[in-house]
Amino acid sequence: MTESGYPNLDEFGIYDGISETIVTTMKGSLPNAAPIGIIRKEGRVFVRLFKGSITYFNVHSERVLVANVVNDPVIFVRSTFSNLKESDFNYVSVEGHKFPVLKDALSWVVFECSSIKVTSEALVAELNPLHAHVNQSPVQAPNRGFNAVLEAAVHATRYKLSNDEKYLKLIHAYSAIVSRCGGKREKIAINMLNDCLKKLKM
Ligand SMILES: Cc1cc2nc3c(=O)[nH]c(=O)nc-3n(C[C@H](O)[C@H](O)[C@H](O)COP(=O)(O)O)c2cc1C
Repeated sequence: MTESGYPNLDEFGIYDGISETIVTTMKGSLPNAAPIGIIRKEGRVFVRLFKGSITYFNVHSERVLVANVVNDPVIFVRSTFSNLKESDFNYVSVEGHKFPVLKDALSWVVFECSSIKVTSEALVAELNPLHAHVNQSPVQAPNRGFNAVLEAAVHATRYKLSNDEKYLKLIHAYSAIVSRCGGKREKIAINMLNDCLKKLKM
């Protein structure tokens, strides 16, 4: 915690630069989860949400979100292509509000969204941490296979939008890194991603 009583984001795994998290939000009584980058730059924290996603809609209307820090590549792929299951979520109450968090998160931070600016393509919101929690803090070296799953998932979201074959070539190259460097979860995640892509191509 900082002297002001607000969470110090370093303690919850959200550092300078872009932290790839799973953002959870509520649409009415339904929880939603999607991979989203939390941008921390010069002491400020932002999110950029492209129009059309459920997360965009929920943040635009509710002005709150939870950033879950997750090290399971399978959760990244599942939440890219579909929503997670109700049983993947827990609920926490902060300042009288109910927030969905991921059961398997290493940590999570509840953010209030302010100064929302909407353009034709996206919204940018400043994020103010309200409350945060650590579930587990594993000691873990960077794994190129994990990073390659994230890169492949980003290219898969671009492929979904554009159908541009160049993304399939990139995903193929990242899949080779996963086979070489990834552990079991990374291999399950990349196979799941390639299966989802096959269905998209049909
Ligand atoms: C690693 C990763 C990071 C992403 N970061 C963002 C982001 O910062 N902003 C955004 O709008 N979409 C981002 N996306 C794409 C969304 O996760 C994707 O469009 C998702 O399907 C939205 O789901 P929803 O409709 O349930 O909100 C990211 C995807 C991945 C795989």
